[in-house]
Amino acid sequence: MDLFEKCYSFTRADEVKEAGLYPYFHPIEENEGPVVVVEGKEMIMAGSNNYLGLTAHPLVKEAAFKAIEKYGTGCSGSRYLTGTLDLHIELEHRLAKFLGVESVLLFSTGYQTALGVISALVLRGDYIISDKENHACIMNGAMLAKGGFAEFKRYKHNDMEDLENVLKSIPDKAGKLVVSDGVFSVSGEIVNLPDLVKVAKKYGARVLIDDAHSTGVIGVGGRGTASHWNMTSEVDLTMGTFSKTFASLGGFVAGPERVINFLKHNSPAIIFSASPTPASCASALAALDILEKEPELVDKLIANADYMRKGFSDLGFNVLDSRTAIVGVVVGQVEAAFMTWRKLFDRGIFVNAFIPPGVPPNMSMMRTSYMSSHQKIHLDKILDAFLVTGKELGLLK
Ligand SMILES: Cc1ncc(COP(=O)(O)O)c(C=O)c1O
Repeated sequence: MDLFEKCYSFTRADEVKEAGLYPYFHPIEENEGPVVVVEGKEMIMAGSNNYLGLTAHPLVKEAAFKAIEKYGTGCSGSRYLTGTLDLHIELEHRLAKFLGVESVLLFSTGYQTALGVISALVLRGDYIISDKENHACIMNGAMLAKGGFAEFKRYKHNDMEDLENVLKSIPDKAGKLVVSDGVFSVSGEIVNLPDLVKVAKKYGARVLIDDAHSTGVIGVGGRGTASHWNMTSEVDLTMGTFSKTFASLGGFVAGPERVINFLKHNSPAIIFSASPTPASCASALAALDILEKEPELVDKLIANADYMRKGFSDLGFNVLDSRTAIVGVVVGQVEAAFMTWRKLFDRGIFVNAFIPPGVPPNMSMMRTSYMSSHQKIHLDKILDAFLVTGKELGLLK
């Protein structure tokens, strides 16, 4: 059979487009954070991971401009060879200090960080044990490790009894890495870290937490999941991204110096891929400066998300519970998700429609997310649009 046959018979996206309900790939023409321009029209953004609104911050933009002036637009090489700038080293040191760890290593994206860390650490005969609702980059990192003859096991979402059952079934002598999102990217739920660490330690497993949606969002001054649980010294490795709170692009892993040194010299994702651009590093550094100087932004972010969680709930929506920047509003079927998305879009609200397999069956949702730069007027407009839409589609309890 022709390899491309599956592409020619894939028509689902075209059908949804023809029905005018397609929620993906809509180009943003201008972006000021809470307000964006799409199709020439101002809209309120309620689906971005730009949690502290720093992509539009004058100091972050200025840092990017200056870095381009000084270093040019790209590094044209991997960190290993000619692609290391003093900016990369500075960002690694600054982050290590901020997170209270020995060492940090940058990657070009968060996705690549997961692939690069897991596949370099979990080798033949080792086991990776992953939460079933972890981000796709962890699943794919595990698949990559499996291709290198590591073993891949999954446990029920945030279920530490099941984690223990899985760990019990693994030979004592095998190397083990338990991996979990710190804040789960779809639901916004926070991992049960105390129990996860307790169980992992009992079976001699190391722990990797993905803080993509945690850094700058939870923990003391936004220091992430381990800080949130007051367990900074008990998480072996933390990975993160610059594409969310840090208003940039790139990823990082943080942990003990010897482990970071090993990854630096053994991870193909570092050795065979170009390093983050000067502007990416400089803007992440500027964002880190702001986060350190203005921790109240984190409080504002959580206050905004809490306001929305309560607001949706008071209106009668089925809202997922969390204390993070992500507020999931469940609408049920895929069709309801597309309809809700379209009506909100027409009312000037830009949210994300999540459908299976990204969410469980019948749990399609509007994944809304907030920024510290959202004002009450923005938030109330979002609630107003949801209310009218919810009434029209019978989504309210
Ligand atoms: C939990 C999680 N990890 C990793 C990533 C990947 O980060 P990046 O955008 O830097 O590739 C994401 C992005 O959506 C994420 O949600």
